[in-house]
Amino acid sequence: MAGETRQPFEYATYPDLTNKRVVVTGGGTGIGAGIVDAYVKQGSQVVFLDIADEPSQQLAASYPDAAHQPRYIHCDMTNIEELKKTFAEIERDGAVDILINNAANDHRHAVADVTPQYWDDSLAVNLRHQFFCAQAVAPGMKAKGGGVILNFGSISWYLALPQLTLYMTAKAAIEGLTRGLARDLGNDGIRVNTVIPGSVKTPKQMALWYTPEGEAQIMASQLLKERIEPEDVAALTLFLSSNQASRCTGRDYFVDAGWYGDGK
Ligand SMILES: NC(=O)c1ccc[n+]([C@@H]2O[C@H](COP(=O)([O-])OP(=O)(O)OC[C@H]3O[C@@H](n4cnc5c(N)ncnc54)[C@H](O)[C@@H]3O)[C@@H](O)[C@H]2O)c1
Repeated sequence: MAGETRQPFEYATYPDLTNKRVVVTGGGTGIGAGIVDAYVKQGSQVVFLDIADEPSQQLAASYPDAAHQPRYIHCDMTNIEELKKTFAEIERDGAVDILINNAANDHRHAVADVTPQYWDDSLAVNLRHQFFCAQAVAPGMKAKGGGVILNFGSISWYLALPQLTLYMTAKAAIEGLTRGLARDLGNDGIRVNTVIPGSVKTPKQMALWYTPEGEAQIMASQLLKERIEPEDVAALTLFLSSNQASRCTGRDYFVDAGWYGDGK
């Protein structure tokens, strides 16, 4: 029925994802945690990076029967030296096959309050690390004969949401980043695409922004009258990183339940 969460959700199985080495940034909570869960269930070897230690440690400990336990590493994505050391540590066990550039922070701000420091901090948490993570994994992927990088964009800048100018600036740039990386890394068999979520029902979104009016507005704006859950985004992520998508690169893929916004 419209608006209800469907249960249970079962992922398709992609045999080529078994044992793949996957890194998920911002994997401790929200959509990232859903993505970690999806790859663990494929039998992938998952490392996820975050700064939220408590939920991340809980997530890492929640798969006692998994073929590969997910590994949590504390890493502040805004600190490029820390990021580089973390990827060097991850690659000691082998090159990364799949990079999910998911970490972000959709903090609100008034235009008048933005200082140069705030600008830099915002772009650092929402954009810069996606490039440097890609730079870190590209040589190992090239040596293996290929790999997959998925950059997380957002529908927000298509909608021109209020108080999110810097976040939307970063998210718009990510689509250009995808095209540039896809161009420069394509000869090495590395596929790069953008995943663009619509309004996803995460614990953070529900805690910070839930109102009955807001829910009604989302339902009115989407063609499909069901809320998007992290597993819907994870399902697209699995497909795009699998061999089923071996001819997909340099493009942007929406999972937004058809957000036309006309309320019809
Ligand atoms: N939820 C939505 O409706 C929605 C819509 C469009 C796009 N997106 C995009 O999807 C992705 C995931 O969104 P979400 O809603 O799950 O976000 P979220 O804020 O709920 O979770 C982001 C994760 O990144 C981590 N993180 C934040 N700053 C970090 C840092 N400096 N270093 C390491 N980790 C850090 C957080 O701790 C958290 O675990 C983001 O790229 C977001 O822009 C989300």
